[in-house]
Amino acid sequence: MTSTPSAAREIPLRNGNGNGSTNPGEDLTRTVSSSFGTLDNLSKSPTATFHSTPSSYGGHQKPSTKQLKPFHTEDIKILLLENVNKTGQEILRKQGYQVEALKSSLPEDQLIEKIRDVHVIGIRSKTQLTASVLKHAKNLIVIGCFCIGTNQVDLKYAAENGICVFNSPFSNSRSVAEQMIGTIIMLARQIGDRSNELHQGIWNKVSAGCWEVRGKTLGIVGYGHVGSQLSVLAESMGMKVIYFDVVNLMSMGTSSQVHSLDELLKQADFVTLHVPEIPETRNMISTHQLEQMKQGSYLLNASRGSVVDIPALIKAMQAGKLGGAALDVYPNEPAGNGPHFNNDLNDFTEDLRKLKNVILTPHIGGSTEEAQSAIGVEVAESLLNYVNLGTTSGAVNMPEVSLRSLTLDEPNHLRVVYIHKNVPGVLRRVNEILGDHNVDKQMTDSRGDVAYLMADISNVNISEIKALYQSLEDLGSRIRTRVLY
Ligand SMILES: NC(=O)c1ccc[n+]([C@@H]2O[C@H](COP(=O)([O-])OP(=O)(O)OC[C@H]3O[C@@H](n4cnc5c(N)ncnc54)[C@H](O)[C@@H]3O)[C@@H](O)[C@H]2O)c1
Repeated sequence: MTSTPSAAREIPLRNGNGNGSTNPGEDLTRTVSSSFGTLDNLSKSPTATFHSTPSSYGGHQKPSTKQLKPFHTEDIKILLLENVNKTGQEILRKQGYQVEALKSSLPEDQLIEKIRDVHVIGIRSKTQLTASVLKHAKNLIVIGCFCIGTNQVDLKYAAENGICVFNSPFSNSRSVAEQMIGTIIMLARQIGDRSNELHQGIWNKVSAGCWEVRGKTLGIVGYGHVGSQLSVLAESMGMKVIYFDVVNLMSMGTSSQVHSLDELLKQADFVTLHVPEIPETRNMISTHQLEQMKQGSYLLNASRGSVVDIPALIKAMQAGKLGGAALDVYPNEPAGNGPHFNNDLNDFTEDLRKLKNVILTPHIGGSTEEAQSAIGVEVAESLLNYVNLGTTSGAVNMPEVSLRSLTLDEPNHLRVVYIHKNVPGVLRRVNEILGDHNVDKQMTDSRGDVAYLMADISNVNISEIKALYQSLEDLGSRIRTRVLY
């Protein structure tokens, strides 16, 4: 879960310079820094205060939590492109990392030059991190996509080279839900048409076909992050809420789950779609489903453009079946702003534009300042958790692995992260190496060809760390070894 900026705390570091305590583990001084693949790059304890990160279990770390660090914070180079939100930049700067933030993306040759050096890169949707770019990124351990989509990154290549990728899929859920509330009222009152008419100088004061939303039934298809937020908002305006989801889900407020899409379509005055884009949801609202809807009802789609059969919707509108519709997403969407919304984009566009009481918006459901800021926090914290703790919760190309945090009374413990090829026999070899030590806890998971192992080991001295690291590095299955302590 994303933690809000206001929830941030400053936690004294384990060296005791903040709270007067001494570190009983001074014998394990930070003279080994092997996380990024070299034992020559030695480091000391970071001296900056620490922006709190969630514990390995997702909540905030308790003050007694031991802060793991891979090596001297100043060694870590972070490149942020495309004007990543300031909230995210600040979180990373507070760590003492070297952060370079640029306002735009970079042409490929300049990107390759820059990426050679950095351990972390943050991008938005324009920067293409293809295999041919990533092959130059010898130090890179993690990519943060400060946006929803991750198509711009070669996820498979990244995983196979031990580079974890994070994004922020849910930071804008509230923004979408609020847009839906506004749009429901606009449709019920035909406000889009009245506004267009007045812009053309036409005064058209009508009440026929205009309704309050109080007491009307809202049917939510897909009761996830957006759908459930919308449910709460709609009820507070006096709407009755029903929802359909493939998963049996706890209702918010007094809403209720129905058993089938058809049941929802027959009961709802407003049908709003919040499902993912998957083969099962392709054209899930087409001619048959539109026929099931109540006469004069409304359809809203802010999920993905493939979910509604738009030519079928156009026919239903032309036949007077629906009272209105709102679309925020389309099967094909332009890459940039400009006069692109025409039949070259989707061959039904001109017909769509002619329809009355159809509100068309350019995929802006999640586009708010608040969402951008929340994305900044969420992705920056994922990056910190990965760099400092090795946890992959929320990763899009690696298995999700986390361990409960180490505490201050475990000074001579260290955490081993071993990213490896998912081939038979690896765990036996790894455990032969780790088995010489006391393994406090361990977790491993795989995703496709790549597996991720985390283990916390107690009472380790420096010479053992070096040997242990080298033994793991020498295994043929190794993709990347990191040691955090
Ligand atoms: N317009 C925008 O700017 C914008 C912004 C954010 C998200 N979105 C889109 O909105 C949609 C919902 O996002 P979310 O964050 O709530 O996703 P989510 O994963 O939290 O929720 C989706 C829900 O749909 C359910 N579902 C899956 N298949 C279903 C089916 N066949 N029938 C009924 N329910 C089904 C899932 O069980 C889940 O509860 C996604 O398509 C997302 O890409 C659009």
